[in-house]
Amino acid sequence: MITLTDITKVYKNGSLEVQALSPLNLQVDRGEFVAIMGTSGSGKSTLMNIIGCLDVPTSGSYNLDGEEVHTLNEDQLSRVRNQKIGFVFQSFNLLGRQTVLQNVMLPMMYAGIPRETGKERALELLERVGLKDRVKHRPTELSGGQKQRVAIARALTMKAPILLADEPTGNLDTKSSYEIMDLFKQIHAEGTTIVLVTHEPDIAEHADRVLLFGDGKLLKDTRKGSVSP
Ligand SMILES: Nc1ncnc2c1ncn2[C@@H]1O[C@H](COP(=O)(O)OP(=O)(O)OP(=O)(O)O)[C@@H](O)[C@H]1O
Ligand SMILES: [Mg+2]
Repeated sequence: MITLTDITKVYKNGSLEVQALSPLNLQVDRGEFVAIMGTSGSGKSTLMNIIGCLDVPTSGSYNLDGEEVHTLNEDQLSRVRNQKIGFVFQSFNLLGRQTVLQNVMLPMMYAGIPRETGKERALELLERVGLKDRVKHRPTELSGGQKQRVAIARALTMKAPILLADEPTGNLDTKSSYEIMDLFKQIHAEGTTIVLVTHEPDIAEHADRVLLFGDGKLLKDTRKGSVSP
């Protein structure tokens, strides 16, 4: 599903260079639930942004569900992002001027899905995440956990095969965090491939595989049930 080959990322600001990712090889199969952990600055978000086609690597190749991502132009990348990837961020990234319903409908509008079809699907998803009674509210009128549930509904609208989440529970209390993790588990059980960054071991525990990053390198790759050396 995701194959990264010799991926590197170097950020350049004037004469300052930061090697955010050292040559990285990684494969994630369809249906996996992967957690990414590691210290602050170890390259986790950099990796997620590359996987999510929000950023391009400095070198290396990336195959996503059969598409050679490194060869695509901007328009093709937007299409891949829209169709293949749902992204959930720590800071929710909802549009404040739009209602909950409009936020969830947005990816479908971009995809040219007819308004009524989009609205119907958005309402279904909002019901699923328990927010049917908040569809006309604006994000500022919601709690953190509710905002994140809107973001998850939005990430599911295009039925993308991959759901990426960068510290989705980082701004939430324990109870909301567990509600969000329950949703991720259901979504995974339905066949979606999930890659999730977290600092919290009890959140990572829900995954089948844990990748540990340090200083731009993959230090450890542990699968549930396997004993690490
Ligand atoms: N736009 C940028 N320009 C320059 N350097 C950057 C940029 N984005 C990230 N970096 C650097 O790249 C390295 C990796 O950053 P990244 O955001 O991937 O870390 P992270 O593992 O997600 O950390 P955190 O747990 O704090 O979110 C860091 O040293 C960071 O300072
Ligand atoms: Mg980060």
